[in-house]
Amino acid sequence: MLNNFEFMLPTTIRYGVGIRKEIGQALVDAGKKNVMLVTDKGLIAAGIAEKISSVLTETGSLAVTLFDQVEPNPRDTTVQKGYEIAKSKGIDALVAVGGGSSMDTAKGIGVLLVGGGVIKDYEGLGKVPAKIPTLIAVPTTVGTGSEVTFWAVIKDTKENYKLSVGSPFIAPEFAYLDPELVATLPPSIIAATGMDALTHAIEGYTATLAEPITDACGLYAIELISKNLRNAVYSDDLTARGNLLLGSMIAGICFGNSDVGGGHCMSESLGGLYDMPHGIANAIMLPYIMEYNYPACMEKFARIAAALGERVERMSEREAAYAAVENVRKLNKDLEIQSLKEVGAKLEDLDELAERSAKNVSVDSNPRKAGKDDFYAMFMKAMNDAR
Ligand SMILES: [Fe+2]
Repeated sequence: MLNNFEFMLPTTIRYGVGIRKEIGQALVDAGKKNVMLVTDKGLIAAGIAEKISSVLTETGSLAVTLFDQVEPNPRDTTVQKGYEIAKSKGIDALVAVGGGSSMDTAKGIGVLLVGGGVIKDYEGLGKVPAKIPTLIAVPTTVGTGSEVTFWAVIKDTKENYKLSVGSPFIAPEFAYLDPELVATLPPSIIAATGMDALTHAIEGYTATLAEPITDACGLYAIELISKNLRNAVYSDDLTARGNLLLGSMIAGICFGNSDVGGGHCMSESLGGLYDMPHGIANAIMLPYIMEYNYPACMEKFARIAAALGERVERMSEREAAYAAVENVRKLNKDLEIQSLKEVGAKLEDLDELAERSAKNVSVDSNPRKAGKDDFYAMFMKAMNDAR
């Protein structure tokens, strides 16, 4: 290993059953007074948001503003709304409770609090001028990894695509990972978000920008996620769910420092066009991008197979590498992930989906060069394989 690399992790991670109860005091200790709780209406209805708002108000010294308008695939208009409220209330800290949507919205609000304007002004890498106000990320799904990444993905409602804002200044200052917050997560959400996390780990490990530390995180995350995902979906085993929460965060550290790849290029195109859950889009496309990529990095795919639990000792490297592809296909089947057709993709949209995928910011990070025709072929294969 002679290549130069840089690895960053500006987020302090706190993990444990009940650890959420320490969030209020941490904010008080940091001298914060006006906190905005960024979440969605589903988490309020499920009583999860309350588990955090109560620890904030119990301190007796924090004013809490609730912003519960986060939607799946969060929009630029929602970020703008949140920012205007935050600005008018003099918010000095943000607490994001939820999946990637809540965390990315909170990051977006933070960006506007330090820079003003609209979120599109900050599209790309390194455009954020200063560190955003203290952000505490509290994941309630097992997928996004957004609690440890420097990226926010926001939907541009004018041009109907997902824009990415990347900067170390938007990384959460703290991530609180409390397995109790995912104890009641419905199996379908565990499956979808868990597959998102697995995609992060596999793509992060094989991305062109991968380095030894992201390799270590990626492989361990693959092992942790694949060992626990079925159990976490089909039982309410808190250990399995806690391990998934951990796995998705470690996968976040991996891809946050390397990148994702062609799988995400395609899933983000699907999310932009159909507003479908990000994790389902990833789960559907993951076997296809793996099948496309494995000849380009056979050794890494063989190690992925081992991390996925395949007994690779007697296989050739090529056999082992392909076993990783088959393993993920079986996993999708076991988790009853829908097909591309079942989620409503249409043949006449494939051209546009392929074009958008080829323009995605992460396309150059894919380990095998992929252009519009390659993405089109992968979408077509997925349509033909549809049940
Ligand atoms: Fe993702």
